[in-house]
Amino acid sequence: MRCELYNMVSIEDIKAEIDSLRRALNYHNHKYYVENSPEISDFEFDTMMRRLTDLERENPQFADPLSPSVRVGSDRTSEFVSVKHRYPMLSLSNTYSKEELGEFFVRTEKEVSKSEYVCELKFDGTAISLTYENGRLTRAVTRGDGTTGDDVTANVKTIRSIPLVLSGSGYPDFFEIRGEIFMPYASFERLNAEREAASEQLFANPRNAAAGTLKQQQSAVVAKRGLDCTLYQISGEALPFKSHIETLEAARSWGFKISEHIKVCKDASEVFDYISYWDEARKSLPFPTDGVVIKVNDFTSRRILGFTAKSPRWAVAYKFKAESAVTRLLSIDYQVGRTGAITPVANLEPVQLAGTTVKRATLHNAEQISALDIRIGDMVHVEKGGEIIPKITAVEFSERDKDSRPLEYITQCPECGTPLVRYEGEAKHYCPNQSGCRPQILGRIIHFIRRKALNIDGLGAETIELLFDNKLIHNIADLYTLKAQDLAVLPRLGEKSADNIISSIEASKTVPFARVLFGLGIGFVGETTAKYLADQFKSLDRIISATKEELMESDEVGEKIADSIIDYFAQPENMETIERLKAAGLQFKSEAVQMHSEALVGKNIVVSGKFIQHSRDELKRLIELNGGKNQSGVTSTTHFIIAGENMGPAKLQKAEKLGIKILSEEEFIALIGENSTAAEERTEERTEERTEERTEERTEERTEEKNIKNIQPIQGSLFD
Ligand code: IVH
Repeated sequence: MRCELYNMVSIEDIKAEIDSLRRALNYHNHKYYVENSPEISDFEFDTMMRRLTDLERENPQFADPLSPSVRVGSDRTSEFVSVKHRYPMLSLSNTYSKEELGEFFVRTEKEVSKSEYVCELKFDGTAISLTYENGRLTRAVTRGDGTTGDDVTANVKTIRSIPLVLSGSGYPDFFEIRGEIFMPYASFERLNAEREAASEQLFANPRNAAAGTLKQQQSAVVAKRGLDCTLYQISGEALPFKSHIETLEAARSWGFKISEHIKVCKDASEVFDYISYWDEARKSLPFPTDGVVIKVNDFTSRRILGFTAKSPRWAVAYKFKAESAVTRLLSIDYQVGRTGAITPVANLEPVQLAGTTVKRATLHNAEQISALDIRIGDMVHVEKGGEIIPKITAVEFSERDKDSRPLEYITQCPECGTPLVRYEGEAKHYCPNQSGCRPQILGRIIHFIRRKALNIDGLGAETIELLFDNKLIHNIADLYTLKAQDLAVLPRLGEKSADNIISSIEASKTVPFARVLFGLGIGFVGETTAKYLADQFKSLDRIISATKEELMESDEVGEKIADSIIDYFAQPENMETIERLKAAGLQFKSEAVQMHSEALVGKNIVVSGKFIQHSRDELKRLIELNGGKNQSGVTSTTHFIIAGENMGPAKLQKAEKLGIKILSEEEFIALIGENSTAAEERTEERTEERTEERTEERTEERTEEKNIKNIQPIQGSLFD
């Protein structure tokens, strides 16, 4: 009987059940995570979810990347592809002063007659841009630098308050909606408690935790961290809305979580009331906020007000002053960083501050301690500014115990006992025992395996400690001598994770030179400097043999960095490590670009104007591929200019005055002999790329044009 019944279930019935479960789960998910008013119990929800995942597993032909079952995420690791924003993600101009805010109202009301404002809380998280096509979430991108961000779609799909499929009606076929992903205090406290228990580094605040979580490589991890998201802006073509509030109400009706604390204010005085209210009331909100955003409501007025290069002129953020608390200083720990720098850290009697419990605060260095005249047992003022780690801002001298004694700063490394040193011009003390001081050794290896450096997955701070303590590694080069069987015998490391570690160590051999250079952890050589050095010098050998002057040829490298680089390579131990890394097969050269010719060697060239066959960037690339050097402006060292349409008149005039030769696009191409068959083939390969580049350029130009059109006389002088 059962069997017969089973046979009667048609594939259509299965599909219908899957569809109905998905609809129901989306609905209840929205009720729970967006509206905070669940209609069913967690048990009922879980039962439906289980049924759906069973059906999906048995009927893979009905898989849907936006099924509510994707909310649990996956443990596959993913890389983030960087993508260009369709509409740049601007930021807001900030103020901490009511007076300056008053000026915003005066300026706005002078320029537009109708001025109604929408006040919103400024959520303290990380900005996100979501794309919806035909009501389905297709892409989620971080802000990045405002022009390009990381595609974090897989992670964002696990955030329950973000609809995967829209409800309601009337949404545009294609639009982007922007908002803030944040971590509620409860999730933050739970996460840090778990990390503390696992002796992992704690997140300094919910903002860092939200941003860090969004960049997790496994979406299943993100799914567990309890992120939330509020939306506040829609971008798209020909949107039907006349005002901000109308837009937000429509977005709410499609299933988005829109803050309940938004208020339309009819004048400046109502805005000030909103601010005063929330400056206090925000302390009892369950999520972090750092200010109020004030936006002109009406879109016609917004068009009149326009934009500056970085931010809209129709909105401003009023930031709340940092919250502070008073508590007792119990003791001071001295931490040793990977460069040997000593940081004194205050242990405090736990105190509630800005929604979290503060137990520790940084004291920066010895000078800071003596400037504050701080003593153990003192009552101190702690503040959480825009900055991450709480800091001690003052001592409550009236409450000082009369028997207290001034603090004596340590003179020896708390980890290895070596006498500390202070370098000229440095506020910090250093432990000079680089090769024998545990936290320095561990810190260097941990830095080396970071995602932005060699990206050795599967190895974390804890495993590094374990390997070090078991004498399997002592420096970064030792990683490349590890064998799976060495690892598998360690406690807590199974065979599978041992294999994973070995294969990601192997994979790190293809990591580009710039990241290897960053991974070496040379003092003051951050990611950007490493990239610059790799681009400029092309190989580690050339960096090693460069003189201080050569290193300092660009603004990127100042004296401090140059000295540090020279000092690093002067140490035999570092050179030995590098030799071993070279032997292991790591990349110590920038990828060789195949040169097309040497036709332009020694020539400085300026590209100006618009071109027909090539984009400006492509011409610049051709210059480099043929041995020439690009210059941004015309100077007496310029050999010639490649001029397109609308070349800037100032450049033209200068070129004439200096007698510099001007070439057309065709003349230039003829000069480098790029119209050979080989060049054509290469060009073909690049056509697709070029089309993309062109579209990007056009979008940029349009945005620029739009911005300039919208800029009001107040900014006029900038363009005179
Ligand atoms: S509106 C054109 N509204 O604050 C900029 N931003 O610099 C549109 N933020 O990047 C931003 N809460 O990450 C806006 N209610 C809110 C916000 C908000 C937080 C963040 C956002 C933005 C930054 C401002």
